[in-house]
Amino acid sequence: MATSATTPNTLLLKNPSIFKPSTSGIHIFPITRATAAKPISIKCSHSATVVAPPTPASAQDRVFNFAAGPATLPENVLRKAESELYNWRGAGMSVMEMSHRGKEFLSIIQKAESDLRKLLDISDDYAVLFLQGGATTQFACVPLNICKPEDPVDYIVTGSWGDKAFKEAAKYCKPNVIWSGKPEKYTGIPAFDELDQNPDARYLHICANETIHGVEFKDYPTPKNKDAVLIADMSSNFCSKPVDVSKFGIIYAGAQKNVGPSGVTIVIIRKDLIGNAQGITPVMLDYKIHADNNSLYNTPPCYGIYMCGLVFEDLLAQGGLVEVEKKNIKKAQILYDAIDESKGFYRCPVEKSVRSLMNVPFTLEKSELEAEFVKEAAKEGMIQLKGHRSVGGMRASIYNAMPLAGVEKLVAFMKDFQAKHG
Ligand SMILES: Cc1ncc(COP(=O)(O)O)c(C=O)c1O
Repeated sequence: MATSATTPNTLLLKNPSIFKPSTSGIHIFPITRATAAKPISIKCSHSATVVAPPTPASAQDRVFNFAAGPATLPENVLRKAESELYNWRGAGMSVMEMSHRGKEFLSIIQKAESDLRKLLDISDDYAVLFLQGGATTQFACVPLNICKPEDPVDYIVTGSWGDKAFKEAAKYCKPNVIWSGKPEKYTGIPAFDELDQNPDARYLHICANETIHGVEFKDYPTPKNKDAVLIADMSSNFCSKPVDVSKFGIIYAGAQKNVGPSGVTIVIIRKDLIGNAQGITPVMLDYKIHADNNSLYNTPPCYGIYMCGLVFEDLLAQGGLVEVEKKNIKKAQILYDAIDESKGFYRCPVEKSVRSLMNVPFTLEKSELEAEFVKEAAKEGMIQLKGHRSVGGMRASIYNAMPLAGVEKLVAFMKDFQAKHG
């Protein structure tokens, strides 16, 4: 796009005071906090208008976003990314423009991995991979890499995501659902000693936190077969609390809930499980290819990995996952208390002992008021409270980055709403 006002293309600046003519013919737009608050409209004769949106001047400009994912990110991480967007640490380019094989990006991915290792105390027996394709791709990767087509494997299904993982596995091995919460509408977790595990199963799969139903494992089962491993989809509670990684063969998680933007999938895998993929496994789904190439076999989601790295730094700066968990318990507690003390006006169907710290589903006794609840909350800057389309009701996702103030505001709103409609 031409930038000179003497060309046929035109520049229309709603805030002309920031337009500085330059002797070189290139016009420079100094974006400061004050000037950036006003939109700039750039129009070319042959293309659509490009509008640079105003930068929020302060945290008050932001909503409390209760979305299940992509989800809210920490304020200071966004600020840091904003400050480094145009020119990353003097590199003269943004992270989005860097070669994934250059020294700058290598330092970013290596730091992200080493900070994640610190956070979760991951030993050298495990590889950490930054992949693409979402947790959904892992539903296929896991069986393709861990077993042969005739191998039996066990799935505990505590919600929709576990069910999807099971169904995908059926294409690549012989999975069996050894427990399903479906008859109770996915409101519980089984007692581990009641599980009828297949002694020959190659692995036992769980979804550590069911994002839609708000059911979370507080402890983990052990596979009956001593040669088998426990595998967990931790997409929606990854890095929300300390986890003993050594109990698992594989942990996988999409980043877009607790640790970054969508587009990055993190896989933590015990190294001895790598290298046994079925012959039909596409290269992009073969853990060995990614482990041998330090997640750089092909072009990785560089900017997303950079953002995850900033989140990991932030979590370490908060004191690590022990401190993060304390905050998460406090936030969840005040929300569940508000529900339980509402005398039935609000109701959470999940068994108390396994309620998720991350995703809090609830219904209104007067279900006809649910749409109004969501609408009124949005007017007050609290968005994405509608429950998943498959279950209805409401859901507040309160991941690491949701501040306590957001939950307090929601609880105050719930009390007001009840006073008006109770
Ligand atoms: C627990 C869980 N597993 C898997 C997925 C699918 O993740 P993706 O969209 O990254 O494939 C989700 C998405 O919300 C999820 O919450």
